[in-house]
Amino acid sequence: METVVSGIRSTGKLHLGNYYGAVQNFVKMQHEYNCFFFIADFHSLTTHPIPKDLHGNVKQVLVEYLACGIDPEKATIYVQSDVPEVTELYLYLNMNAYMGELERSTSFKDKIRDQPDNVNAGLLTYPVLMAADIIIHKATKVPVGKDQEQHLEMSRTFGNRFNRLYQVDYFPEAYAFNYSTNLVKIPGLTGKGKMGKSEGEGNAVFLSDSPEEIRKKVMRAVTDGGPLEMNQIKPDVIQNLFSLLSVVSSVDTYTHFDDLYNNCQIRYGDLKKQLAEDMIIATAPVRDRINDIASNSEYLRKVSKMGAEKARESASKTIKEVREIIGFKSF
Ligand code: TRP
Repeated sequence: METVVSGIRSTGKLHLGNYYGAVQNFVKMQHEYNCFFFIADFHSLTTHPIPKDLHGNVKQVLVEYLACGIDPEKATIYVQSDVPEVTELYLYLNMNAYMGELERSTSFKDKIRDQPDNVNAGLLTYPVLMAADIIIHKATKVPVGKDQEQHLEMSRTFGNRFNRLYQVDYFPEAYAFNYSTNLVKIPGLTGKGKMGKSEGEGNAVFLSDSPEEIRKKVMRAVTDGGPLEMNQIKPDVIQNLFSLLSVVSSVDTYTHFDDLYNNCQIRYGDLKKQLAEDMIIATAPVRDRINDIASNSEYLRKVSKMGAEKARESASKTIKEVREIIGFKSF
């Protein structure tokens, strides 16, 4: 059975982008593959979270993974920092990851722009840690959104380079995976790129948002003055709303508003109302489960312990073999 690995950084609540871009695939894949889904708390350190917040952030993602339907009996769900073997592999991979290629990564360039006062080495080697996460379980499939494609390419480079350096055929190549042919891209509500927390409160709809919060955010989404010509190409901010509609609404609803747009009869208020209601319906089952699971500490303890054990078993096997390949020996 092929192995699957994916993770989400623990930087707060999951939003619709995480759900449609990643977690929904996790839930499907757990029935078909040997799956490892983790909470990337080492990765979250690049932005220096305060200790008081760290555990809560990890818990939030764990709870939401479970609320979305990842089954700890089927998939291995674990916290990255419970598996220190990952950091050892990260160290080895860092020895043949080159400055130039790391500096060229788009995510690194974005970070330099977004946080010029905190351009730490962890940001530079972020793709190396991510590669370690993936290849430590010898995964071949990685369910992630489109924005992670370049990181996956780097992970293949690092694994292949290790193989070449030590003349082994040890690490397999991992590729991005999505059930539909195109990797899903979930835009935000402010018209500025993908849905995410960094673009401000109103940009992302969270799985734990109440129906009122969802309505409020969607009604505030950026629009324009409306189409001036029939069948005009949609500007980005409008295309974003249609993309969201295509994810949460029925085909009929989508076509209805698309036709209105093309006839220059669209009223954005109506579209947004419908979009908000469909988002509320789409997220209802997850929202309902979040509070229940969050209050069940016993269950969370059990799940994380079981996951850590399974993940360490797989990771320590790899580390043992990697140490042999590299040439470490005990006296
Ligand atoms: N970089 C990913 C993100 O920002 C999170 C991540 C870390 C990840 N390690 C991973 C995803 C390994 C897949 C596999 O979303």
